[in-house]
Amino acid sequence: MRLVVVSVVLLSLLGLSLAEDPYLFFDWNVTYGTISPLGGPERGILINGQFPGPEINCTSNNNIVVNIFNFLDEPLLFTC
Ligand SMILES: *[C@@H]1O[C@H](CO)[C@@H](O)[C@H](O)[C@H]1NC(C)=O
Ligand SMILES: *[C@@H]1O[C@H](CO)[C@@H](O)[C@H](O)[C@H]1NC(C)=O
Repeated sequence: MRLVVVSVVLLSLLGLSLAEDPYLFFDWNVTYGTISPLGGPERGILINGQFPGPEINCTSNNNIVVNIFNFLDEPLLFTC
């Protein structure tokens, strides 16, 4: 299984960020799993075993650093 580590740094989510703005760090393990959003089981993509992904608890001007560990057998692209 291939392990691709992608670091996504989301700066200035809302407006210009200043040096003293707090940093929030997250580790996301992306895996396949079984989900049932429509009632029947189907293969979905889980983040840390959750579907949908985890909440990011932040406020304006927080700097968010997400370390994404791709446990899928295909490349993964995150955008926001
Ligand atoms: C992600 O996977 C790594 C390696 O398997 C593990 O050490 C780590 O605890 C996992 N992190 C989360 C948030 O599940
Ligand atoms: C988000 O932060 C608020 C305030 O600190 C807290 O009450 C809430 O439980 C947090 N939610 C999550 C999902 O961490």
